[in-house]
Amino acid sequence: MAQDQIAVIVLAAGMGTRMKSSQPKVMHRVAGRPMVNHLLDTVSALAPSRVVAVIGPGMDSVAAAVAPHLTVVQTDRLGTGHAVAQAKTVLAGFSGTILVLYGDTPLITTESLEAMLECRRGDRHPAVVVLGFRPVDPGQYGRLVEGPQGLEAIVEFKDATEQQRAIGLCNSGVMAVDGARLFGWIDRLSNDNAKGEYYLTDIVGLARADGQACGFVEGAEEELLGVNSRVELAAAEAIVQNRLRRAAMENGATLVDPDSVYFSWDTRLGRDVVVGPHVVFGPGVSVGDDVEIRPFCHLEGAVVDSGALIGPFARLRPGAVVGVKAHVGNFVEIKKATVEAGAKVNHLTYIGDARIGAGANIGAGTITCNYDGFGKFFTDIGEGAFIGSNSSLVAPVKIGDGAMVGAGSVVTRDVVAGALAVGRGTQVERAGWADHFRSLKQIEAAGKKKE
Ligand code: UD1
Ligand code: MG
Repeated sequence: MAQDQIAVIVLAAGMGTRMKSSQPKVMHRVAGRPMVNHLLDTVSALAPSRVVAVIGPGMDSVAAAVAPHLTVVQTDRLGTGHAVAQAKTVLAGFSGTILVLYGDTPLITTESLEAMLECRRGDRHPAVVVLGFRPVDPGQYGRLVEGPQGLEAIVEFKDATEQQRAIGLCNSGVMAVDGARLFGWIDRLSNDNAKGEYYLTDIVGLARADGQACGFVEGAEEELLGVNSRVELAAAEAIVQNRLRRAAMENGATLVDPDSVYFSWDTRLGRDVVVGPHVVFGPGVSVGDDVEIRPFCHLEGAVVDSGALIGPFARLRPGAVVGVKAHVGNFVEIKKATVEAGAKVNHLTYIGDARIGAGANIGAGTITCNYDGFGKFFTDIGEGAFIGSNSSLVAPVKIGDGAMVGAGSVVTRDVVAGALAVGRGTQVERAGWADHFRSLKQIEAAGKKKE
């Protein structure tokens, strides 16, 4: 039914001058993705039939981040009511509930939005439901004015009387409005107020004057944090990180020291994963069951299969795939390479653009020389191969299954399966040379003392 449908307007036309940034405010990242995408993800749980973002001129990056949802451009920033007016053509004829959200309030939860929709469906069927909250410091927020019939008005701080400023219940900015009525009220807004803006908040008073009920639900201050500065961005990051840590633990991962582990919005951890202190997950990491990630690892764009052991001090870069029960140890960097099941790369190694076959053992200090200053080349190491310590594998090169490479080799040609390749200076030995050298030096020193 049309009345049950939901449409969403995200207000994001503000540049966010206090961010002191060349990019639009809502493009700043929290847990690895733009704020506006957090918001879109939250509303997607409500299965909205339309979503439109109101952006400022030249904000192509925001339009791209919001796609495939629509964007409309607000050329002059004449207030939140004026911003909503820009979405009128896109939502013409929509008679369900329109949710208005702010792009710079990215932490709002689906639960709060659902509570607002529930309130809309309630007995009095309020035409406008506002998400209110009681911040520790109500500061400059708009105040919700209650009456016997529920919500009577929202007054902006600058327009409020002393008595109204004493109200602790504030406007978060989030509203759920009867779509059949919203734009009628928006058309009637005036800018005759302290800021000379068209306030969205004035629709509450207009709805009441039309005899419509209005209501509010209360959310937690933490989820309604607005991001206007880098300091607030960091506060938002901390809140999101805590949510992600909690979710990881609730889903069966052990975080030895949760506060020192940083997740990306899309990090996926299997069951019985143990993550040690000081581990950072960049975007695009997926970890299977029973994996141990020891302290001080950095993972990004990587897949780790079940039972693998990573770190301490390992770096997995985009395209790293670590197979079942494989080991990647300390000071090892893996980039765009597959370490197949049971293979071991335990110490001080760079593996880039490569495959390491199942069960292979890569000695300490091995380097795949994948770059010649112009192009990237592939190293293929066969199953069960053994690469001696401090070897350089100059790509493109292939080490056959079960082959061995002597320590300290520079391998420039393919090695046949089962063979031994040694590519280093031949060792020479001169019997007695050291003893002779030492006695010569001792005689020299004795001569100098006499002088
Ligand atoms: C608004 C509310 C206030 C509430 C507060 C919560 C109004 C009139 N006031 O005030 O009651 O307590 O948010 O944070 O709504 N925007 C546009 N175009 C515009 C103006 C704003 O897209 O012309 C966007 C901004 O980018 C931002 C949001 O709307 O995402 C809120 O605008 P802002 O100027 O921050 O409103 P406040 O003065 O904080
Ligand atoms: Mg604001």
